[in-house]
Amino acid sequence: MPDGWEWDESLFAGSAPHYERGRLPYAAGFVDALRQALDLNGSGRLIDVGCGPGTVTVPLAPMFVEAVGVDPDRAMLEAARRRGVRAGIGNVRWVRARAEELPAGLGAFRVAVFAQSFHWMDREQVARTISRMLDPGGAFVHISDVKEPSSSGGLAHPAPPVDALRELVRHYLGPVRRAGQGVLEHGTPGGEAALLVQAGFGGPELLRVRADRVLRRTIDDVAAWVYSRSDSAPHLFGQRLAEFDDDLRSLLDEASDEGRFSERAPDTEIFIWRRPATVDRRQP
Ligand SMILES: C[S@@+](CC[C@H](N)C(=O)[O-])C[C@H]1O[C@@H](n2cnc3c(N)ncnc32)[C@H](O)[C@@H]1O
Repeated sequence: MPDGWEWDESLFAGSAPHYERGRLPYAAGFVDALRQALDLNGSGRLIDVGCGPGTVTVPLAPMFVEAVGVDPDRAMLEAARRRGVRAGIGNVRWVRARAEELPAGLGAFRVAVFAQSFHWMDREQVARTISRMLDPGGAFVHISDVKEPSSSGGLAHPAPPVDALRELVRHYLGPVRRAGQGVLEHGTPGGEAALLVQAGFGGPELLRVRADRVLRRTIDDVAAWVYSRSDSAPHLFGQRLAEFDDDLRSLLDEASDEGRFSERAPDTEIFIWRRPATVDRRQP
């Protein structure tokens, strides 16, 4: 959990309808990379904690007997459910809960995935709980984008004007990053290695999956990216949302003659941590 910050339900309020459109996709090869690394063959169960709109749950579900997506945000779970239906996936359960409420009677899992969600949690508590929920030899998998400055050098359109967008958000919401009803003075925490080791995990094995893809983004896509983020989620603008939206679209309009942007898709980084093959489920 970020230092000096308290979680509340509004963290991603209003973001869900913008999430799938706005967020950049994980590298397409991430599913195969995990299949190989974890020898996934349709056995065992998957839990995706902080599953959002099922971004990772849905493509991974066919490689397990059952997948469970857990998230506290009702609208994210609705979007996840729709995504599962669209993909024709029948072996997924969506559970509304915070990670801190686990195990919540959900049973045992072969793999637990955290895709850009672990930093919002009480990581020590959640790591300990998950280690007890995993089968012996099971895997704790941390997935994220590789953060690199966006450049559109040599591409058809300009890059989204990320710095100007940040400045506009600051103009409306103040200089310190917002998150739910609080602020993040020091950003979100990284460096979970020590606490995962403490929770009994071994590793990690690191996979970097190349994206090698250029995305063409419209003004609506980039606006959706802004609203998909916790620090510029729609609820934060209150009565001024329409005013902000006008300014946002004018800024984007001015940044590209044709209303188009080019962006290199980020690589995907996967850290795999393993529970020892012999697990004492009684440990604290
Ligand atoms: C950045 S989104 C990532 C969504 C999805 N995993 C993905 O990669 O597209 C973070 C998600 O974590 C969820 N989340 C935040 N705090 C959480 C907590 N304490 N327990 C479980 N999920 C949480 C949010 O509701 C949100 O859906």
